[in-house]
Amino acid sequence: MTNSSRREPRLAAGRARALGMPTRGTTAPNRLRRIDRWTLDAAAALLRGAADPLVVDLGFGASPVTTVELYERLRTVRPGVRVVGLELDQDRVTRAAPAARPPGLRFTRGGFELPPPGERPVLVRALNVLRQYPEAAVPGAWATMLARLAPGGMLVEGTCDETGRRACWFGLPAPGAAPAWLPSGARGPAGPTLTLSAHLASLARPSELAERLPKALIEHNVPGHDVHRLFTAFDRAWERAAPRAVFSPRQRWIAAVADLRAQGWPVRGDRRRWRLGELTIDWPPAGGSGVLPVRCGTPQRRSDGTSRIVDPSVPRSVGGTAGHGDLVEHREVVRAGLPLTGHGIGAHLDRAGRAGDDRGDPGLGGQPADRDVQQ
Ligand SMILES: C[S@@+](CC[C@H](N)C(=O)[O-])C[C@H]1O[C@@H](n2cnc3c(N)ncnc32)[C@H](O)[C@@H]1O
Repeated sequence: MTNSSRREPRLAAGRARALGMPTRGTTAPNRLRRIDRWTLDAAAALLRGAADPLVVDLGFGASPVTTVELYERLRTVRPGVRVVGLELDQDRVTRAAPAARPPGLRFTRGGFELPPPGERPVLVRALNVLRQYPEAAVPGAWATMLARLAPGGMLVEGTCDETGRRACWFGLPAPGAAPAWLPSGARGPAGPTLTLSAHLASLARPSELAERLPKALIEHNVPGHDVHRLFTAFDRAWERAAPRAVFSPRQRWIAAVADLRAQGWPVRGDRRRWRLGELTIDWPPAGGSGVLPVRCGTPQRRSDGTSRIVDPSVPRSVGGTAGHGDLVEHREVVRAGLPLTGHGIGAHLDRAGRAGDDRGDPGLGGQPADRDVQQ
């Protein structure tokens, strides 16, 4: 990251209230089906029980298609659901307008601050949005969105490939109240989870999913880090389960996930979910080295009120930008709400206040976008 990219962004007056960086809007019909299928299961009780079932789809992209799909899917569990598609790029909002079906489905301009003011969504989906940001922006973005969720609500944040065959996402509970959602088959209190999901017939080994890890983890698939331990263990379990492949890749995946659980990994769910090519795991796993960038429903509070972001084994960064080993006062991040400097959301804007593009976005054949723009 250059010095100039660390400066506070100079946002034009009309843009000042929408937090984030407009980026390339790659999307496709049905791309987010795996995420939505999981969300429908995990958040069914949350949606049914919500007095105001408001859902935000943050960063819907060049076409509103995945937001329309989300609305259609959520209506099957909560007919009165209201879905708002948010996008920083005003042209995309304008182009999405014909797809609106008010009051159930509408599109508006906005960012991580999740308008409309005064309304608190029970569910926020932010897919393939943070992938285009530097990792240092993740804590601020998460904290800002989590602080605006309704009590017991959920943020679903992650990345998938262009066809939706491979996807990895976090399920993050709002801070404070006990989460009103649980992955099915869950045991014990619901905290943050990481889910890996794949089209199994085209998967050679589980670690192929690593390239679709959410922004908070994608740079951490290296020895000594929890996510690397997970993929190493999962690949080995997959090898041991090879004889099941004669029945189907699905049987092999189920056996490998059961193997992981038997080894003590905090695997959620049961065969009903695993057979879909899903693995949901409490994150970070107990006893591991990593922690989450912000405080979620399951607090990782230290006695002094601070917590450590992402992974303490990575050296501190310099120049005022929080590195993975830095301590961050999350109460302050959440209270301030609009962290536009340092490790915050604006850290990636260039001299002219523009965002980097996502040349490596899934399907474009390049390196991950963040590699182009991060340093
Ligand atoms: C790659 S597209 C993803 C589209 C869709 N969610 C999907 O997964 O197919 C990312 C979109 O997020 C938008 N975006 C980036 N940061 C945002 C923010 N803070 N708030 C709202 N939209 C944002 C970009 O302008 C871009 O259109």
